Amino acid sequence: MPVDVTSKLFTPVKVGALNLAHRVVMAPMSRMRSNEDDSVSDMMVDHYAQRASKGALIIMEGSVAAANGRAYKGAPGLYDDRFIPGFSRIAHAVHTKGGLIFAQLYHGGRVSHTSLQPDGGSPVAPSAGPFFGHAATEEGEVVASPARELTIEEIRAVIEEFRKAALRAKVAGFDGVELHSANGYLLDQFLEDSSNKRNDIYGGSIENRARFVLEVTNAAISVFGPGRVAVRISPSGEFNEMGDSNPEALFGYLAQQLDKFPLAFLHIIEPRIYGNDDKVTATAIPPVAAAILRKHYKGTIMVAGGFLRDSAEAILQSGDADVVAFGRYYTSNPDLPERLRRNLPLTKYQRQYFYGKTPLGYNDYSVHEELVSAGETNKTR
Ligand SMILES: Cc1cc2nc3c(=O)[nH]c(=O)nc-3n(C[C@H](O)[C@H](O)[C@H](O)COP(=O)(O)O)c2cc1C
Repeated sequence: MPVDVTSKLFTPVKVGALNLAHRVVMAPMSRMRSNEDDSVSDMMVDHYAQRASKGALIIMEGSVAAANGRAYKGAPGLYDDRFIPGFSRIAHAVHTKGGLIFAQLYHGGRVSHTSLQPDGGSPVAPSAGPFFGHAATEEGEVVASPARELTIEEIRAVIEEFRKAALRAKVAGFDGVELHSANGYLLDQFLEDSSNKRNDIYGGSIENRARFVLEVTNAAISVFGPGRVAVRISPSGEFNEMGDSNPEALFGYLAQQLDKFPLAFLHIIEPRIYGNDDKVTATAIPPVAAAILRKHYKGTIMVAGGFLRDSAEAILQSGDADVVAFGRYYTSNPDLPERLRRNLPLTKYQRQYFYGKTPLGYNDYSVHEELVSAGETNKTR
């Protein structure tokens, strides 16, 4: 006889300082549609407004915390006070619909190009060294320029930039911030030993490599207080040429340390994802998933990576996670929580519009009721 389990996905949950109506969260997704000067565009405000709903959390796309952290032309900046009004518009639009929103702060580190740097200089990273990942400039995708190693003084300055960016998010009315320590950007570059070759207090041992992330976390909490700062990690992610010799030890330690902070949640990208896509190849690295980190982290765990209704329900039932972030399907289903709740058909996402400069494939997806009245529920768009 089938076991009668009560659905958890649509039960309310307290996440840090937030009260969520259910456990479906919009994952952070860069769509590269900010204005020329890195400020928030009108279409971005519309985009988040369309996806906001009562009691649901949105994590806004990665926003650049420091001027030397730009990785992709088109990503919103939060490295200057002049960006606050645009962010306020987004926070206001989401709150008007009863939703909640976190900003995501990132620094590209070695994922950058001289043309994206304020002084045309080299990108900065924990260590100099070979890296062939891509940045996105005015001209489109280019191989990253060689990075130079940050000095200790510069590391402290970057931490201060994160603090100031968190403060701007707070002033703009955001409910909290998520620190992007996943997918091979600066925080992740410090963590993993394939990119961190330092031999000072920020390199070498796991404790030293975790130091930067913990200090940035502390700085963000100094702004927002308890329950409003989250950290996102991709323990088995290989995107941006990442890798570590012992991810289970590294991320286990990090999870233990983060457990001592009053975080809103720890956000874990499951091993089956490569950046913005499914990972299809098998890997020699032992996968480190939420199931493993749960042993080290007792607070709220959010997971992301290829989830649909049933798999989300399953991981909640297993107890390995408390909330589930959905990425790609949120691009094409502005009413995703409602569609999942009612088990309605989902509109397939379209990868060719993930990044772009127009509202096409961005703000022109319909909610279920509109598709019904147009007789289009079985069409992709
Ligand atoms: C278009 C696109 C942009 C993304 N940008 C970000 C980002 O800015 N920050 C981040 O942490 N993850 C980013 N991701 C990763 C997603 O948050 C998520 O981890 C990934 O899509 C897997 O979830 P899914 O299977 O539900 O799509 C992006 C993914 C997509 C598809």
